[in-house]
Amino acid sequence: MKINKNLVLIGMMGSGKSTLGYLIAKKLNLAFIDVDREIEEIEMMSISKIFKKYGEKHFRIIEEKITSEILKKNSLSVVSLGGGAFLNKKIQDLVLKKNISFWLKWKNASIIKRLKNYSKRPVLKNMNNEKLINLIDQRSKIYSKADYSIECDNLEKFEIINEIIEIYETK
Ligand code: S3P
Repeated sequence: MKINKNLVLIGMMGSGKSTLGYLIAKKLNLAFIDVDREIEEIEMMSISKIFKKYGEKHFRIIEEKITSEILKKNSLSVVSLGGGAFLNKKIQDLVLKKNISFWLKWKNASIIKRLKNYSKRPVLKNMNNEKLINLIDQRSKIYSKADYSIECDNLEKFEIINEIIEIYETK
């Protein structure tokens, strides 16, 4: 059967959505869309600059608009969402309606380790480990609504990719 659903990756910052999305798309010979990069291109500004200049609230409005447009397009793609996008109910509904979604799930300690350089991402500004763990815990409840959760901790990169592709191809 021909798959006609986008493959959507969700999860925390640092979970590997962009890197894995790119590699999965390459293997499946599909287009790859990294929503954060699309936002930066359309707005002609880095995400950090958007946060700094206009604030998070404004970023979330742009994020909802651009993510929704991408998800409504008809061309089949692998789409990596921004870490906060799936928390938006409109985006969440769109993702769950006509796509196959995967949560890249890591243990809290792994995410913290992978995000060593906190200062690079605006959401992590002024955040200590305790606050970050709170954020991961809160978001995990929502990420868990994805169609599939991929426990990434004990897998090599190629194993994560293969597991996702295997599930996707049986749909
Ligand atoms: C955010 C994650 C970032 C980016 C923005 C907000 C978040 O994307 O969309 O800085 O709220 O988790 P990545 O998850 O790709 O880093």
